[in-house]
Amino acid sequence: MMNFAIQVVQVALVIGAFAQSQYSRYILAPSSRTLLPASVYQTGGDVENAESLLGQSPASSASFKGNNSYITLDFGKNIGATVSFNVDALEGEDEAIGFTFTESSEWISAEYCDSTQDAGIDLPLWFNLTGPGFYQADKYHQRGGFRYLTLVHNSTGSVSVSNLTAYWITSPEMEDPTSYTGYFHSDSEKLNRVWYAGAYTNQLCSIDPTTGNSLGLPTSGWEYDYQISNGTSVLVDGAKRDRLIWPGDIAISGPSLFVSTNSLVPIRNGIDALIRDQQSDGRLPYAGEPFNEFVGNMSGVPDIFLWSFTYHLHTLNDIYDYYLFTGDLEYLESVWDQFKLGMNYPLQFIDSSGLANVTSSSDWLRSGMGGHNIEANSILYHTLQNALKLAAVVNDTSNVANWTTSAAGIPPAANAILWDDSASLFKDNDTQQVLHPQDGNAWAIIAGVVNGSRAEAISDALANRWVRPYGAPALEAGDTVSPFVSGFELQAHYMVGRGDRAVDLMEFMWADFMLDDPRMTNSSFIEGYSTNGSLHYAPYPSDPRVSHAHGWATGPTSTLSFLGAGIRLTSAGGLTWKLAPALGGLQNIEAGYEAPLGKFAVAWHNSSCGITGSFETPESTTGILEIPIAAGSKTLTLAGPEGAMTIDVTGLSTATVEDVAGGKYSVSIS
Ligand SMILES: *[C@@H]1O[C@H](CO)[C@@H](O)[C@H](O)[C@H]1NC(C)=O
Ligand SMILES: *[C@@H]1O[C@H](CO)[C@@H](O)[C@H](O)[C@H]1NC(C)=O
Ligand SMILES: *[C@@H]1O[C@H](CO)[C@@H](O)[C@H](O)[C@H]1NC(C)=O
Ligand SMILES: *[C@@H]1O[C@H](CO)[C@@H](O)[C@H](O)[C@H]1NC(C)=O
Ligand SMILES: *[C@@H]1O[C@H](CO)[C@@H](O)[C@H](O)[C@H]1NC(C)=O
Ligand SMILES: *[C@@H]1O[C@H](CO)[C@@H](O)[C@H](O)[C@H]1NC(C)=O
Ligand SMILES: *[C@@H]1O[C@H](CO)[C@@H](O)[C@H](O)[C@H]1NC(C)=O
Ligand SMILES: *[C@@H]1O[C@H](CO)[C@@H](O)[C@H](O)[C@H]1NC(C)=O
Ligand SMILES: *[C@@H]1O[C@H](CO)[C@@H](O)[C@H](O)[C@H]1NC(C)=O
Ligand SMILES: *[C@@H]1O[C@H](CO)[C@@H](O)[C@H](O)[C@H]1NC(C)=O
Ligand SMILES: *[C@@H]1O[C@H](CO)[C@@H](O)[C@H](O)[C@H]1NC(C)=O
Ligand SMILES: *[C@@H]1O[C@H](CO)[C@@H](O)[C@H](O)[C@H]1NC(C)=O
Repeated sequence: MMNFAIQVVQVALVIGAFAQSQYSRYILAPSSRTLLPASVYQTGGDVENAESLLGQSPASSASFKGNNSYITLDFGKNIGATVSFNVDALEGEDEAIGFTFTESSEWISAEYCDSTQDAGIDLPLWFNLTGPGFYQADKYHQRGGFRYLTLVHNSTGSVSVSNLTAYWITSPEMEDPTSYTGYFHSDSEKLNRVWYAGAYTNQLCSIDPTTGNSLGLPTSGWEYDYQISNGTSVLVDGAKRDRLIWPGDIAISGPSLFVSTNSLVPIRNGIDALIRDQQSDGRLPYAGEPFNEFVGNMSGVPDIFLWSFTYHLHTLNDIYDYYLFTGDLEYLESVWDQFKLGMNYPLQFIDSSGLANVTSSSDWLRSGMGGHNIEANSILYHTLQNALKLAAVVNDTSNVANWTTSAAGIPPAANAILWDDSASLFKDNDTQQVLHPQDGNAWAIIAGVVNGSRAEAISDALANRWVRPYGAPALEAGDTVSPFVSGFELQAHYMVGRGDRAVDLMEFMWADFMLDDPRMTNSSFIEGYSTNGSLHYAPYPSDPRVSHAHGWATGPTSTLSFLGAGIRLTSAGGLTWKLAPALGGLQNIEAGYEAPLGKFAVAWHNSSCGITGSFETPESTTGILEIPIAAGSKTLTLAGPEGAMTIDVTGLSTATVEDVAGGKYSVSIS
């Protein structure tokens, strides 16, 4: 029996080694940066030979005659690119070709683009044609996100165009944008697509730092030309806009980059730009520059410094994550004084209740952020736990007593003051009884502010509010579905043992709606929308402004790797780890990623006895294994480099094995 089990597992290990290349077919990033359109979407006016634009043959060109002649091309997925083309022939005076861009099919037009800012729409990018030859947009006139491209001719003569290409300009730090170090596969094809679309979305949000900031662009002649950080690449909120460094967004996009491309330079450059802006009292900026300058211009207060309680904490957690993922102690030590200054600043808001009283309304564009807010206090508790871990790493005890005491007061106070038993949810704050937010309830579980039966009740109550077929509502932001906050909700369901709910939500919200709805890009994830399924995001007056490639919507990618496949680093670089699979109703998960100390890979299978399979962790590391056991099972066999050990699992629902040395193992249960 045992020999048989080990043989089966060896097969699984071979599969694990193949997995990374086998699943590369799901990668949406292009192997060549020069892209051709996938299909002609529509034509209008007097055009001929539109199909020729799907190839690069100079012998065959598309022609445009007279006013309002246009061809709309579909790249089949969202891309961030500069356009170029050849003019083979032209007749007439003042001939021009304009390009309009849109991420969503909702805004396809020969007259305008979707929008980079609130002022409605952007006008076409025009090329005045001086004669036959090669024409190319410069990098400042790239479009950060578009799936549909319309070429329009609006003069009386005629123009022939060939060799139309789009140069995929994002993720400039990656020599080969398809060189993912992580992978994910399961028996849910929906989740497989979601994992890779999340990875791809973050690649679209990794940009050349000299092409940042879309705020305040003119509708005509728009260009991205603000330098938002140093370095070759920086992780921004959205590909089309804002093209700014937002620390809250990195709380989701950072971990998802780590488990997929492991290209973390864009995170580091972003964090550096945020820290550079820290005020002497410790405040970290709400967003990277030039956000303050932009709002300063708008409000007539030139030296304004915008501060958000929650985004301040997110910057600190982004530093924690960056250290966890890289193990770069030298970097941690170089920013430690600024981290401490940043950690201490918000503690002054903790009052006699034990909770912080938030006085800055800025957050992820939800409303009503203030007072003894449950989201802010949960994130504060979480940040203090991270700060204590980092203090131990750098052997700095100077704040340990304060941080320990400050943290200890939060869970009891939140549970006493903010819990609403009638709703089985936390209230937003204690000055009202009505609103039970998605963000604060998810974060209370993630942070460990709530445990046990209350946490389970929160999972039940949040799931009961889902609005099928669209998503999980964020009532604290009106009629909004927030893929950002819902990413935290996914984590919360896994953490209370309801992986099945996370799987359900990812399948119907992220796959069926956010990929497959025809208004979406089928490749990257939207920033926000309404509970009635309209692509209206409550904070924005203008619908074409909504970003369809927003890194904060990529929660499933890291969540599936960390909590579904269950591969978690418990100390920097992967020196210690925990493997705790939660299949949530799936039959199989194969996943892996690369950490500084080596590769992690798992292949899990849902058997009638519990979760069986195989895994590999780097040498010279140690970890904990937590394996779900089905009722009636008797023995778990863990076979590894040192031989096989058996564990009596009679009556257990989870088998925990500690001090597992790095290596290749198989897990079988009988
Ligand atoms: C194209 O030419 C028009 C005048 O004919 C001018 O107003 C416009 O700025 C030019 N556009 C570009 C992109 O050079
Ligand atoms: C092209 O058509 C638009 C309206 O469709 C009109 O405003 C414009 O004047 C026309 N241009 C020429 C050169 O006829
Ligand atoms: C084409 O549209 C552009 C941008 O609106 C404008 O500058 C140009 O004058 C138009 N040309 C004609 C011939 O209408
Ligand atoms: C065709 O476009 C590519 C850019 O994609 C450019 O490098 C090449 O020179 C163009 N071909 C011609 C004949 O201009
Ligand atoms: C780039 O680094 C220099 C030196 O640290 C700094 O002065 C400058 O502000 C940085 N630029 C940006 C855009 O972050
Ligand atoms: C702020 O206004 C100044 C002066 O008009 C302008 O040069 C600058 O680009 C503006 N900054 C931003 C971020 O919009
Ligand atoms: C911790 O330090 C902060 C800032 O220095 C201070 O406001 C707060 O009262 C201290 N809290 C405790 C529990 O010592
Ligand atoms: C308390 O929560 C409600 C609901 O979100 C909100 O309207 C109110 O502004 C909040 N109070 C403060 C002080 O922010
Ligand atoms: C929070 O602080 C503000 C400003 O100091 C104060 O007006 C408010 O009453 C406080 N809220 C609570 C719930 O204590
Ligand atoms: C912290 O102290 C431990 C034990 O003395 C030591 O091994 C470690 O190198 C120290 N870490 C740093 C960053 O100095
Ligand atoms: C929740 O559980 C964790 C781990 O057992 C524990 O550290 C934490 O104190 C608990 N939190 C509460 C509010 O009971
Ligand atoms: C969406 O993309 C997937 C590949 O990721 C493809 O198989 C599928 O056909 C696409 N769906 C549509 C409607 O184009």
